[in-house]
Amino acid sequence: MSVTSIATAAYLAAALLFILSLAGLSKHETARQGWTYGVAGMTVALAATIALTVHDSTVRGTTLLVVVPALVVGGAVGLWRARVVRMTGMPELIALLHSFVGLAAVLVGWASYVEVERHGLAGAEGSLLRIHHAEVFIGIFIGAVTFTGSIVANLKLSARIKSAPLVLPGKNALNLAALVLFAALTVVFVVRPALWSITAVTVVALLFGWHLVASIGGGDMPVVVSMLNSYSGWAAAASGFLLNNDLLIVTGALVGSSGAYLSYIMCKAMNRSFFSVIGGGFGIEAPRGDDDGAQGEHRETSAAETAELLARASRVVITPGYGMAVAQAQYPVAELTRLLRERGVEVRFGIHPVAGRLPGHMNVLLAEAKVPYDIVLEMDEINDDFADTDVVLVIGANDTVNPAADDDPSSPIAGMPVLRVWEAAHVVVFKRSMASGYAGVQNPLFFRENTAMLFGDAKAGVDEIVGALAAVRPELAAV
Ligand code: TAP
Repeated sequence: MSVTSIATAAYLAAALLFILSLAGLSKHETARQGWTYGVAGMTVALAATIALTVHDSTVRGTTLLVVVPALVVGGAVGLWRARVVRMTGMPELIALLHSFVGLAAVLVGWASYVEVERHGLAGAEGSLLRIHHAEVFIGIFIGAVTFTGSIVANLKLSARIKSAPLVLPGKNALNLAALVLFAALTVVFVVRPALWSITAVTVVALLFGWHLVASIGGGDMPVVVSMLNSYSGWAAAASGFLLNNDLLIVTGALVGSSGAYLSYIMCKAMNRSFFSVIGGGFGIEAPRGDDDGAQGEHRETSAAETAELLARASRVVITPGYGMAVAQAQYPVAELTRLLRERGVEVRFGIHPVAGRLPGHMNVLLAEAKVPYDIVLEMDEINDDFADTDVVLVIGANDTVNPAADDDPSSPIAGMPVLRVWEAAHVVVFKRSMASGYAGVQNPLFFRENTAMLFGDAKAGVDEIVGALAAVRPELAAV
């Protein structure tokens, strides 16, 4: 059997492992298994690609000299970043990695253009050559959009630029013009490939990607991240066509379609139009400015008072958010849950689909702290139960529990489904200040009569409650 056919079989095996990986990652219980399949698939894919490169006599000694150091340096940097990144830094790291896929697709497209200009394309003339030119152009376009779009997402997620949407005059017309220009340039390039048209499409796509993501507001960033994930998949698939690499085509299509489906699910969960979000907020009016100002009086509470409230409760719901991740409060939260359950209190968690900064962010943190899966419920499973809940602990969540989404049509997050925590008898909000959440919108929940603010770091607050709870006599429970 030739090396080429062994590599083809290995590519097929790797593609199957990637599909098994995606299936495994879709559930908590099988996520580890899914991860193992993914690592195995990538190992097989890398081994087969290296074997093919070694086997290809035309490149031996030249390409290998580039491939091996690139692999070692890239692998080392990747390993180092993965080891040092904090969970809260994952979204921006992922956005940065998407930008690399985009940049790689642009470079592959350019390299392929230069190669064909110099040496022609063996066995391809007429319509086949034109198909190749179209592939080059589309690959560069998707890659460049992914590259700059992901850089903006990285800057927004790491709070190095404001998460509020950029609203240029005629922003929808600008996006539309970029698409029309791309279509026109593609036709020109396919008919007569030239350096000016390929340069023009690269510049247009770089600007388009930047504008597309800059135009999307903080509340819609989860959809943007999965959308860029999808774009990076299509960019990889486009490179696969140019490099004649089946595995890259299959893997790119898997990432592209699963990312698109995730974006669709997120849009549905957040009551947003899929086409509006992927069109850079197409059709959405400029939201009114940041309304970080005060909205009345808020009431403060202490850890000791909260412990007493909890000791008297029968039903407690905890709604965690990004602040729990920042504070790394999941371990004392798990300890508090255990203590309350021992006292016969029913404790459940309500997880908003976009709580934190990553899909499933809260589920991962709670699983890490060994909170039982069966008491961790999705927003739709718990939203009708708040009216029967004695105490809700809002731990570092803000946008995901904002009643303005429900009852203020002019709010930038209007229409986004939220956890209706305010329906409970008592709400305790753990945060450090009255600052707004990621979407930059003030939260009227903080000023409701049944809400009390517990200011300070969420971990320190929960730790204190755990300590204070031990001092509250159990016979006070369930009054
Ligand atoms: P956010 O609205 O981001 O609010 C988090 C709150 O945590 C802040 O108001 C902050 O208030 C508080 N906080 C920060 N550090 C803290 C600490 N050490 N101790 C206590 N509190 C702390 O949170 P959320 O409700 O989870 O909403 C998520 C937001 O991120 C949504 O707008 C969503 O659209 C967006 N987003 C989500 C994703 C995904 S996929 N989940 C991706 C990108 C963006 P203080 O500063 O006053 O403490």
